[in-house]
Amino acid sequence: MQQRYLITGGAGFIGSHLAEMLLGKGHSVYVLDDESTGTAANIKALQANPDFHFTHGSIMDDDTLSRLVGTCHFVAHLAAAVGVQYVLKDPLKSIMTNVVGSGRVLHYCSQYEKPLFLASSSEVYGLQTKAPLREDDFCVLGATSVSRWSYACSKALDEFMALAYHHQKAFPVVIARLFNTVGPRQSPAYGMVLPRLVDQALTGRPLTVHGNGTQTRTFTHVRDVVEAIGRLLATPATWGEVYNIGGMEEISILALADRIKTVTGSNSPIELIPYTQAFGSNFQDMPRRVPDVHKLAGAIGFQPKIGLDAMIADVAADRRTRLTGT
Ligand SMILES: NC(=O)c1ccc[n+]([C@@H]2O[C@H](COP(=O)([O-])OP(=O)(O)OC[C@H]3O[C@@H](n4cnc5c(N)ncnc54)[C@H](O)[C@@H]3O)[C@@H](O)[C@H]2O)c1
Repeated sequence: MQQRYLITGGAGFIGSHLAEMLLGKGHSVYVLDDESTGTAANIKALQANPDFHFTHGSIMDDDTLSRLVGTCHFVAHLAAAVGVQYVLKDPLKSIMTNVVGSGRVLHYCSQYEKPLFLASSSEVYGLQTKAPLREDDFCVLGATSVSRWSYACSKALDEFMALAYHHQKAFPVVIARLFNTVGPRQSPAYGMVLPRLVDQALTGRPLTVHGNGTQTRTFTHVRDVVEAIGRLLATPATWGEVYNIGGMEEISILALADRIKTVTGSNSPIELIPYTQAFGSNFQDMPRRVPDVHKLAGAIGFQPKIGLDAMIADVAADRRTRLTGT
């Protein structure tokens, strides 16, 4: 049966893929986005579809938000101020969007009793070095004088708010902590490591790796991620729960730079850049971030299908088109 989905932040990287996936399954999609980091270009191909509806606006605008939540059957809340560089540049806006904005989304979804998917982040685990990370592990955040932690704190507060709505008002909400998600349309502009390194490889510039490059991450293709989001939202047994969505291949950023060189055939050198040079003196990074995905697999039978080399190739094809304008 055709359902109506509202995607906040649907002109962004993950939101535009989620919109595409839901339209492909025959649903109708409403997007609310202020185009602060998302772009009309991300959803250009969807505009011709009569089941696609775009509203340029903010989740901070109560009238618009209320009308759209009231119109739809399900809500996926992806709108947020995203990216390390964005958060460092404008921590106030990032906190207001991620806390006050999410609070408004929760309020209206609860009022109209609309099931909600809430996008949280692996950042909430902070400096926790345990691997793999389970959803009930401690979140170890740094000092409030280090701006970077405001993003993790704001996402953690979103989780607390969503769980409080669930427990106090029986509100149907599912939360996912997304680990590094990559794929076509992800902008390198706000500090996302994979598209940034791919751009450097494709343009013959040095691949700049922050710190000593031993920090590790896992990566998941956005098509796998949106499949998991769709299934979580459609599975009432997941409501009131938190799930990791992430890849299983742990790789250091130095090794990632090497893999990118191999997959793209680039001769660029790799350069280590001190964190102080990249982000200023007041910066801390997570040494390791690997998800335990057993809970997710148990709930919706989900395993990511796309491997790292295919992710790099896909991002490289997309970036090549954008860099050459073809
Ligand atoms: N990409 C990742 O690796 C990753 C990892 C962890 C969590 N997440 C979460 O996933 C979600 C989507 O991230 P993304 O990578 O697609 O980033 P993105 O920047 O491409 O998407 C965010 C979208 O939200 C929109 N937006 C921002 N403020 C808004 C507002 N006030 N009102 C309406 N729209 C607004 C932006 O214009 C953008 O289109 C975010 O909540 C982010 O925190 C992403």
